[in-house]
Amino acid sequence: MQPFSSCLLFLFSFITLAVAGSYDYKDVLQKSLLFYEAQRSGKLPSDQKVTWRKDSALNDKGENGEDLTGGYYDAGDFVKFGFPMAYTTTVLSWGLLDHKKGYETADSVEECMKAIKWATDYFLKCHVSEYEYYGQVGSGNVDHAHWGRPEDMTEARPAYKITTSKPGSDLAAETAAAFAAASLVFRSSNSTYADILLTHAKQMYDFGYKYRALVSNSITDSQCCYVSTHYEDDLVWGAAWLYRATNDSTYLTYVDALWDTFKSMYGFDWDQKYGGAVVLLAQLTGDSKYTTAITNFCDYVFDQAPKTSKGLIFIVNWGPLRYAINMAYVCLRAADLGINTDTYRTAAKKQIDYALGDAGRSYVIGFGNNPPTHAHHRSASCPDAPAVCNWDTYHGSQPNAHVLYGGMIGGPNKSDIYVDDRTDYRHSEVGCDYNACFQSMLARLVELGV
Ligand SMILES: *[C@@H]1O[C@H](CO)[C@@H](O)[C@H](O)[C@H]1NC(C)=O
Ligand SMILES: *[C@@H]1O[C@H](CO)[C@@H](O)[C@H](O)[C@H]1NC(C)=O
Ligand SMILES: *[C@@H]1O[C@H](CO)[C@@H](O)[C@H](O)[C@H]1NC(C)=O
Repeated sequence: MQPFSSCLLFLFSFITLAVAGSYDYKDVLQKSLLFYEAQRSGKLPSDQKVTWRKDSALNDKGENGEDLTGGYYDAGDFVKFGFPMAYTTTVLSWGLLDHKKGYETADSVEECMKAIKWATDYFLKCHVSEYEYYGQVGSGNVDHAHWGRPEDMTEARPAYKITTSKPGSDLAAETAAAFAAASLVFRSSNSTYADILLTHAKQMYDFGYKYRALVSNSITDSQCCYVSTHYEDDLVWGAAWLYRATNDSTYLTYVDALWDTFKSMYGFDWDQKYGGAVVLLAQLTGDSKYTTAITNFCDYVFDQAPKTSKGLIFIVNWGPLRYAINMAYVCLRAADLGINTDTYRTAAKKQIDYALGDAGRSYVIGFGNNPPTHAHHRSASCPDAPAVCNWDTYHGSQPNAHVLYGGMIGGPNKSDIYVDDRTDYRHSEVGCDYNACFQSMLARLVELGV
């Protein structure tokens, strides 16, 4: 680079740093996709960019020997929890479908498609027959008893499925949503793949709608980590996605049938689908029932929900940033529908800017000012093999051996304080679901050019 332009560049970055709330969203979006690469389980492809990760869990199998390799490790651990993984996939697909220009600007369309396909290829393997779906591989308690690399795992990794006698309507409906949303993503590049996904989407929805139970009551091992609460919201969300992917109004009649139970729900995360479902239905139908619901939701979130003194929406002390950004993304979508556009956009942007540095530090690994270096993430904490990696590594004060680029950690406590401590998993862990709305929101901000 020529001295003159590098001098300008220097000045420019200085100015950028000096203005609060001005971040390189494109850079963060690209890093967030690297985070998903680092979470990959199974046989890694030759174009894998996160090369400190290697093939792992190549023996993941169903009860009858079905191949269940692939998919994503959930968080700092190595269990493959199908429910949050499906939610993640739906939200990533939603972002790519509706913020394609943002992804194009970030030169990341292909990478995002790969991130989605890494999950959907695995979900297809898990759907072993019409009413049998493997919703988890690896036991929470067994997995959490080890600290080390996924490449070195020797413990048993049992697989758990939902069936007609042990159903999971929430898991089935969310997986249907993921398949349906991904079918739209792949429609123009590979209609064969899109058709396969759509067939599975319809079957999974039917499974979830007909056989009602909570996944965590059927796959009880998941109670270590993910206790789900209702399934009506997942069924509404799934129906909205099936409607979007098919234009079959039958799915809207399902929404109507579930509405009375659904209408008093709230939130948006791996478990609660209320906010995302109403804003998606508002987008698809324009019906005032949905636009009113999303307006009330966002007014509550921005005006009344608990906040820290530095302005972070603070719903739960476990992964608070994830909840704040989930709410922000849903309301950014409402803004796109012309609902209080300026107010919601400004308020939503404040939430993500908090994570990127506005509160005095970055909460995104490998990005910005003073990013976390002690994330609760086994794989990143371990030096390359053959060095020992065990509970001493976990308890040590040394930073993680690898930079888990783009992973957004849980966040501060209610006093806006974060202590970078690997053992404080409520605040220092990452999760596939944490980065989902985060990434889609970045794509929208890049698209908006703000
Ligand atoms: C399209 O998807 C099908 C089904 O997964 C696959 O067999 C085929 O190779 C894909 N085609 C291309 C061009 O990627
Ligand atoms: C559904 O109908 C709308 C309006 O006619 C159209 O724009 C959209 O492409 C259709 N979607 C599908 C999946 O057929
Ligand atoms: C936040 O963490 C700091 C440092 O550990 C502690 O002093 C403070 O009491 C915590 N605040 C809350 C609300 O837990």
